Amino acid sequence: MTLYLTTPIFYVNAPPHLGHAYTAVVADTVRRFARVDGRAVFLQTGTDEHGDKIVQAAAAAGVAPRDYVDEVSAKFRSAWSLLLVEPDNFVRTTDPAHITVVQGILQKIYEQGDIYFSDYEGLYCQGCERFLTEKELSNNKCPDHLTHPEKVAEQNYFFRMGRYQQWLLDHIKANPDFITPTRYRNEIISFLRDPLADLCISRPISRLDWGIPLPFDQNFVTYVWFDALINYISGIDYPSNRDFVQRWAGAEHLIAKDILKPHAIFWPIMLKAMGLTPYRRLHVHGYWNVDETKMSKSIGNVIRPEELVADFGVDSVRYFLLREMSFGLDASYSAEAMRTRHNFDLANDLGNLFSRSLTMVKNFANGQVPTPGSLRGEDQELVLASLAMLADYRDKMRAWAFRQALETVWELIGRANRYIVANAPWELAKDPTQAQRLATVLNTLLETLRCIAGAMGPIMPEASAKMAAALGFSLDEGLTAQRHWGRLAPGSKVNLGENLFPRIKAQK
Ligand code: MSP
Repeated sequence: MTLYLTTPIFYVNAPPHLGHAYTAVVADTVRRFARVDGRAVFLQTGTDEHGDKIVQAAAAAGVAPRDYVDEVSAKFRSAWSLLLVEPDNFVRTTDPAHITVVQGILQKIYEQGDIYFSDYEGLYCQGCERFLTEKELSNNKCPDHLTHPEKVAEQNYFFRMGRYQQWLLDHIKANPDFITPTRYRNEIISFLRDPLADLCISRPISRLDWGIPLPFDQNFVTYVWFDALINYISGIDYPSNRDFVQRWAGAEHLIAKDILKPHAIFWPIMLKAMGLTPYRRLHVHGYWNVDETKMSKSIGNVIRPEELVADFGVDSVRYFLLREMSFGLDASYSAEAMRTRHNFDLANDLGNLFSRSLTMVKNFANGQVPTPGSLRGEDQELVLASLAMLADYRDKMRAWAFRQALETVWELIGRANRYIVANAPWELAKDPTQAQRLATVLNTLLETLRCIAGAMGPIMPEASAKMAAALGFSLDEGLTAQRHWGRLAPGSKVNLGENLFPRIKAQK
């Protein structure tokens, strides 16, 4: 079954920051990993372009909403391409095709009696773009935006979510992997203990006109969340696509915990009301913080991914994001942590291992893959450690444990560096009777580097491609092929690679 992986569609009220970049890089890493793991995959991302927030941002910028969304949506696209995030589809909620799908769904649900019209008074959070219940507040404030929600009283259309509450709870309980990691599943199960309020799905055009008109009442536009969630099916051409059911069967969503409720509650219930099966899985990650506070455009403590890429290079940024955060938990950004990861893990550990190994092959073996002799215990240990790393790495990546997957790679890098010191090829090179031993050591090192490059590909596409080009092998045949020890043909040319990760000095 093809993995149909999605990111949230991002609000275009400001350009992307490192928090958004994390989601996009995780998604792209999973996409690249699925490919080398022999699984078909389709990645979708996009931009969420309706609602109050966008109107306000456009007004502040002094441009019409239409021009504003075009401009900021393009910034997301270009940031993703800079980060080597390569989606198969990019949805925009202002696309006419998306609008048609949303209106079709609203009409169907309205006709089947799941939508009603009523008076409403509630506490509305501008940041969340939804009504909050008293229980969700902390000190009368929205816990995410730290603002007081305003009292709003108006007539609106409502979606009968309560009807499907028990069904949802049963579904979550019967499918332990539906929401992961478990802490988020537990949060939703406990939230569902109380009766679910119906969802307000409209906004009067007198208050907001930047949205999708309700097909059954032109005085209202569609609530932005109801509109946005539908991107996950409009993007794969529901309902007209003949292959829709098949594609949808492989659906897995990736989000951060800020938007857990819309994804774990509203969305499965919307799907149920449409007569569709729920998605397969919801993967939830934590927040990137700066000094203990969530990185966010409303707080203003944002780091721009473009700037980090310019300073450190794309692979270093991707590595940092996946290595520093344990998937599911919060992590902190600091310039110091970024520089340390770059200089120590990448420039020292990996970069030096690679450049010193290749330099020795150039100086002591004519720049060719040497033919190994019989292996000693210490060589065999490195062979086994390399193969064990590939297996372990694959298991951790399948479990979305990116940090731990990288740790297994770095353990091997450390081992290979110690192997060089212990075997001192520069000493062997001085003694002609040790020629075969030297050839064995260098060959074992090159094969180890090949395994490392093969594993790194999904996370650091540029560096692993450079390593593969220097070593003379192809990354395209997938992970299983990398387990074949001796893939590098003896006698084939090894190129001196360029410096993979130049060191970065601290800025004064
Ligand atoms: N438009 C909605 C999503 C609709 S999906 C049908 C939205 N957009 S958003 O631009 O605010 O993006 C939210 C997502 O951006 C989070 O779920 C997460 O993926 C990412 N992040 C935004 N800030 C983040 C951090 N500080 N840390 C980690 N992820 C962050 O909500």
